[in-house]
Amino acid sequence: MDKNNISIIILAAGQGSRMKSSKAKVLHTISGKPMLYHIIKASKEISNDISVVIAHQKEQVQSEMESFFDDINFVVQDADNFPGTGGAMKNVSPKNEKVLVLNGDMPLINASALQGFLNTNADVIMSVFNLQNPDGYGRVKIVDNQVQYIVEQKDANEEELQISTVNAGIYAFSKEVIEKYIPLLNNDNAQKEYYLTDLVSMARKDSLDIKPLLVDEEHFKGVNSKKDLSDSEVIMQDRIKSNWMKSGVIMQLPSTIYIEESVKFIGECIVENGCRITGDTLIENSHIKSSSVIEDSIVKNSDVGPLAHLRPASNLEDTHIGNFVEVKKSTLKGVKAGHLSYLGDAYVDQGTNIGAGTITCNYDGINKHKTIIGKNVFIGSDSQLIAPITIEDDVMIAAGSTLSCNKIQKGVLAISRTKLKTVKDFYYTFFGKK
Ligand code: UD1
Ligand code: MG
Repeated sequence: MDKNNISIIILAAGQGSRMKSSKAKVLHTISGKPMLYHIIKASKEISNDISVVIAHQKEQVQSEMESFFDDINFVVQDADNFPGTGGAMKNVSPKNEKVLVLNGDMPLINASALQGFLNTNADVIMSVFNLQNPDGYGRVKIVDNQVQYIVEQKDANEEELQISTVNAGIYAFSKEVIEKYIPLLNNDNAQKEYYLTDLVSMARKDSLDIKPLLVDEEHFKGVNSKKDLSDSEVIMQDRIKSNWMKSGVIMQLPSTIYIEESVKFIGECIVENGCRITGDTLIENSHIKSSSVIEDSIVKNSDVGPLAHLRPASNLEDTHIGNFVEVKKSTLKGVKAGHLSYLGDAYVDQGTNIGAGTITCNYDGINKHKTIIGKNVFIGSDSQLIAPITIEDDVMIAAGSTLSCNKIQKGVLAISRTKLKTVKDFYYTFFGKK
């Protein structure tokens, strides 16, 4: 396929009032990335000429997309004078003869679903699907395999509302069709908007060939509300998890697991129920036990959880992390931390055992400080390591110690406890009985 033959225009200028949100609709996320990101990513697989139309919160939308992509054209819609999907097309100037126009609220689209538009020939190709509940979509009138017109729900009469064939929101036009008909659109409708969809009836009146392309909701679902957002999330999650299971990851009760699109697995991994794995996380030959949360971390040849929390920049190798352990911005190589610990801003080396209740006191209220723990260190339970601190190799820390020095020398026992005192018969004296 030649990516230079086709231009893509993505309409992302709308406010998205049905989302009931201060955030622009296209920036709402699915599997950790803005909806618009998913659409641009799919578009880039088939085209080198991608324009995104923006208006509402245009600075935020543009800068967020520029953090992912560096070769997108941004076109600003004059939304005050020309609102609507047709108004959004007024300032576009695609390079190629064949132009795909995509709504910016279709995060489930992928390159192979877009491919269908390239294999069909007509003056206009428009995507349609049949829905039992067509609520919210434009209804499509088709006669003899020619689209006659599209009517928006708000403009439809009783009979038109019964039509179950709806406009899925992607169209293929020739550049001439866009140039000829977009200037002719008017806003004579319930929403007083310029509808891109009106182009279809005008072109049909001029006897152009307007073919419907039957597509599936799984790839073409539009997101207008937060309910749509969560329905689309379920589909995207299913896709992401199915792909990883195909490539060898075991998932127990996958419907309870959330994995963002940026997460990667290598080798044989097991993810148990209830886990949430996000950001730039890489998991290699590891077992993530139930209800663990992993964010922006690397986990190699390790087991984590149940109920563990790896916060950003945790880097684990050959390590065992047990329940109620929180790790943040720390590197652990060949370490055991089985229970109830906080390890933050730490480096912990081979063969070291972190006892239950060990805390790195990394924050003094103003700054964060580092804890460095060497090889084969045994840290007794309920110890507090006040950072900055370096514990050299082969050290034993007695349970209950608070280490408030900068360095513990190689090979020593460190113990900080108040001396145990017992008071004979105190219990009986206190309660006055024997
Ligand atoms: C649109 C279609 C409807 C179709 C549905 C499919 C029109 C008039 N209606 O309706 O037939 O069934 O998509 O999902 O096209 N946008 C702009 N500028 C604007 C308004 C919208 O760029 O002034 C963008 C939005 O950001 C959005 C896309 O166009 O990404 C679609 O707009 P939306 O308001 O969601 O249209 P629908 O009502 O869903
Ligand atoms: Mg929509």
